[in-house]
Amino acid sequence: MPTTSSLLNTPHPGKTSPTSAVQRYANASAAFESKLYDSTQTLRQAFTQFHPLIQASSLGAEDIVISHLIASEGLDIPAFVLETGALHPETVQLLQRVQARASIPIQIFRPEPLALQRFLDANGPDAMYRSIELRKACCGVRKMEPLSRALDGQRAWITGLRQEQSGARAEVSLIDTSEEASGGRIKCNPLAHWTWGDVWHYIALHKLDYNPLHDDFFPSIGCAPCTRAISDGEDFRAGRWWWESESAKECGLHVKEATA
Ligand code: ADX
Ligand code: SF4
Repeated sequence: MPTTSSLLNTPHPGKTSPTSAVQRYANASAAFESKLYDSTQTLRQAFTQFHPLIQASSLGAEDIVISHLIASEGLDIPAFVLETGALHPETVQLLQRVQARASIPIQIFRPEPLALQRFLDANGPDAMYRSIELRKACCGVRKMEPLSRALDGQRAWITGLRQEQSGARAEVSLIDTSEEASGGRIKCNPLAHWTWGDVWHYIALHKLDYNPLHDDFFPSIGCAPCTRAISDGEDFRAGRWWWESESAKECGLHVKEATA
């Protein structure tokens, strides 16, 4: 099992190219303007109809776009970040920059210190590589429990899920009310139909600050031990939990209640 640190220290083949993520990916699809309209309508509708409502932001490219859309529309919607304690320094630094500029302070949710210490004492820092059970237990302590606190009392949340990200996300809709009836939350996915090129077209258009790891071939960014750069031709989420099978690759944040 290659460790993440060894992977991160290995120069990526693409690094010989000096291009930024903006130069590499920005490419609006033909329907970009109508998708943008749908996204803003979705955010406005969510703001008027669903209370209380919050944005979940990993500070990835999609979430940066959504935060900018929310601010541009003048919508008073707060955001939270799950600071797992295992994020890349680049992500933590971006969080500090974004927080300094935010008109509504970003809510930061961290793992419960004692529970995390107990997990680390029992299993060590590299437990996630040993089994799917241990990996999910780590996600439980670092992400799922803080997520339940972040969403406590919220009727709806906004995420950066896009259909294009993976087969498992191909059915993502702009507004997903499927779990509300069973006491779950409404999920708004304003970029559901955007391509990766659309996301970067928007970032270029508005000169948005973004995670520099995107320049280094990290399209999808999670915790440092569980995220690596991808090579040309690899799937969008190939760098997430890369040692696991495709079907296991969700941390639970976006797994439907019935199958979680
Ligand atoms: S994950 O389930 O595999 O980790 P992914 O990284 O694709 O999710 O991100 C999808 C969406 O989940 C993001 O756009 C964001 O809305 C939410 N999300 C993921 N990670 C975090 C985080 N650390 N803090 C807050 N929201 C997050
Ligand atoms: Fe732990 Fe990795 Fe899950 Fe982060 S993504 S919570 S480090 S197993």
